Amino acid sequence: MKTQVGIIGAGPAGLVLSHLLRRAGIESVVLESQTRQYIEERVRAGVLEQGTVDLLNELGLGQRMMRQGLMHYGVELRFSERGHRIDFKNLTGGKGVMIYAQHEVIKDLVGARLSDGGQIIFEARDANIHGLDDEKPVIRFTQSGSPQELHCDFIAGCDGFHGVCRNSIPSDVLRVYERDYPFGWLGILAEAPPASHELIYANHERGFALLSMRSPKISRLYLQCKPDEDLDAWPDSRIWEELQKRLATRDGFTLSEGPVIQKGVTGMRSFVVEPMQFGHLFLAGDSAHIVPPTGAKGLNLAVADVRVLAAGLKEFYANGKRELLQRYSEICLRRVWKVQRFSWWMTSLLHKFADDSEFDRRRQLAELDYVTSSRAASTTLAENYVGLPLE
Ligand code: APR
Ligand code: PHB
Repeated sequence: MKTQVGIIGAGPAGLVLSHLLRRAGIESVVLESQTRQYIEERVRAGVLEQGTVDLLNELGLGQRMMRQGLMHYGVELRFSERGHRIDFKNLTGGKGVMIYAQHEVIKDLVGARLSDGGQIIFEARDANIHGLDDEKPVIRFTQSGSPQELHCDFIAGCDGFHGVCRNSIPSDVLRVYERDYPFGWLGILAEAPPASHELIYANHERGFALLSMRSPKISRLYLQCKPDEDLDAWPDSRIWEELQKRLATRDGFTLSEGPVIQKGVTGMRSFVVEPMQFGHLFLAGDSAHIVPPTGAKGLNLAVADVRVLAAGLKEFYANGKRELLQRYSEICLRRVWKVQRFSWWMTSLLHKFADDSEFDRRRQLAELDYVTSSRAASTTLAENYVGLPLE
């Protein structure tokens, strides 16, 4: 098979890229190792920055998101049993975020791409890359057991953290920056009406907690736990009991409880590789960087990467110029590091660190007090949360 851009991975990065390329009249083929059903049902996060919402609408992909998603113009920071609202609309000139589950975004992107004749090859197994520094790299893979080849001009490595693309770059070329956090998140999806109409990020002496949602009937809640927490030790009743404690307020706030329909533990890590480009391979999204979920940035950063990549490919196919493609890594990494900083900062501000002294604890509470009582400080949080302006 031949195409212009071979895209490995049908996550937010790969699928948004395929739509951006179609709009620019550039051919692409997406190779995905999993089945369509698997990627459309995989529970992940669900906060879209204003810029991501605007891009999906611009691409004509936002109808269901606008119908079923929940637009929020603020979040609450809760500590010392009191809540403090950060007013995004007021602090960012009207911007907000959309609460719309990542797998719903995936469903919309896959459905639209296939209905306008786009090529997504599911169950494309054992993908590997050849000739990265040639003009015509090749992706070899198997489909229902038979070997296939995809010849392309460029390869977009959108295969996530555990994919093959990052490891195709020689290790002496790649610089890795990482930080693991000494805790994880125990997350649940529950058939319980959200007890708040906006997200609540809680800092509590028992550990962090987050109230999020998927719809007026479905709550999404997280609590800080050990990175390798044993889920069997957490029957639903204990989870609700702990969430009630960490989200409690002086004026008697309580969560409405309900059947837990999904639960899991996710580790917390900050990870960046540089450069994000090698020869004709361009890494985008989780294949190049991972952020802890506290800032709700993973999906949005993946979309920001492929915007830059699509612009560079558009310039190349329009007039043969490679300037933007050559600056791809530099441009993306400026944003990646700012988003890494914000996600690390939110994580440090809101979680309990076991080795924290009483001084650290009081300093953390003082920072929360400052962020929620200073317009300058709350503006910083708001402008990062709704999404920094795109380059
Ligand atoms: N060959 C083909 N496809 C692969 C391979 C491979 N070797 N390895 C992984 N994939 C697919 C995965 O099945 C997945 O569908 O690549 C896709 C990568 O998607 P994501 O992991 O969602 O990564 P990305 O598109 O960069 O989006 C980042 O997704 O995981 C969330 O929190 C993360 O929000 C962030 C966002
Ligand atoms: C979610 O709704 O899953 C969610 C919200 C905010 C976060 C992380 C996850 O910071």
